[in-house]
Amino acid sequence: MHVEDRGYQFSDGVYEVCEIHQGRLVDETRHLDRLERSLRELKIRMPMDRKALSHVLREVVRRNRVRHGLVYMQVTRGVSRRDHPFPSPEVQPALVVTAKSIDPAKGVKMAEKGIAVTTAPDNRWERVDIKTVGLLPNVLARQDAQEKGAQEAWLVDADGNVTEGSSTNAWIIKDGALITRHADRGILRGITRTVVVEVLAAEGLRLEERPFSVEEAKKADEAFVTSATKIVMPVVSIDGQAIGGGRPGPLVKRLRGAFRRHSE
Ligand code: PDD
Repeated sequence: MHVEDRGYQFSDGVYEVCEIHQGRLVDETRHLDRLERSLRELKIRMPMDRKALSHVLREVVRRNRVRHGLVYMQVTRGVSRRDHPFPSPEVQPALVVTAKSIDPAKGVKMAEKGIAVTTAPDNRWERVDIKTVGLLPNVLARQDAQEKGAQEAWLVDADGNVTEGSSTNAWIIKDGALITRHADRGILRGITRTVVVEVLAAEGLRLEERPFSVEEAKKADEAFVTSATKIVMPVVSIDGQAIGGGRPGPLVKRLRGAFRRHSE
């Protein structure tokens, strides 16, 4: 990376993480749609056309021989002498693509046990619907969770409602209804979240898109998080308080299984 890359100096860039399952990119179309949206919102050009980018992703996965894992792509506004306004004339956006293997048994083991989450104030900016590389508040919340022995941090707004996780969307289940915050500007519209919403419809399960408080979450029957890397991951405690007896519940297990049948 160039020292004057604007991603490095200003977090002036966006990224995507896409799961690789059995050698294929999961929900590639939706990830590229969201990448294009993030870029549009920040007035950054696509670094190359979509077909070429799709080819690059496949080549990186192939050359790294990844069957299970993830591909990371990052696009920044490019390299230019440090100055706050956009470079004029425009420069070529910088693209980085990497792929790494992850042992699929790791995720299976984690899902069997479930994860612990802590809560932390959501002190991010107001456009978290854009998937920018500016993740410092997420990093600090996640580090705080790790120091408390938890695997994820749920971010909480000024009204005491959970927005989302540091790198996941947050869900609770109560009396058979699946509750998650509506995808406005207060959260990232997760691709996994969108697929799960479709799974619920197909499985005849009830969805409530609304805010929920930490207090309500602690009294939930089940809880879970979704992301490209965690898929559907049971949450078994919130701030040390056990959820659903401290074990992954039946609905979360069913959803995790159903997810594979629905994702592309
Ligand atoms: N994170 N919310 C936030 C803040 C995220 O960073 C992510 C993804 C999600 C879930 O989105 P999706 O289902 O599209 O992965 C929600 C990625 C995995 C990361 O930063 O590593």
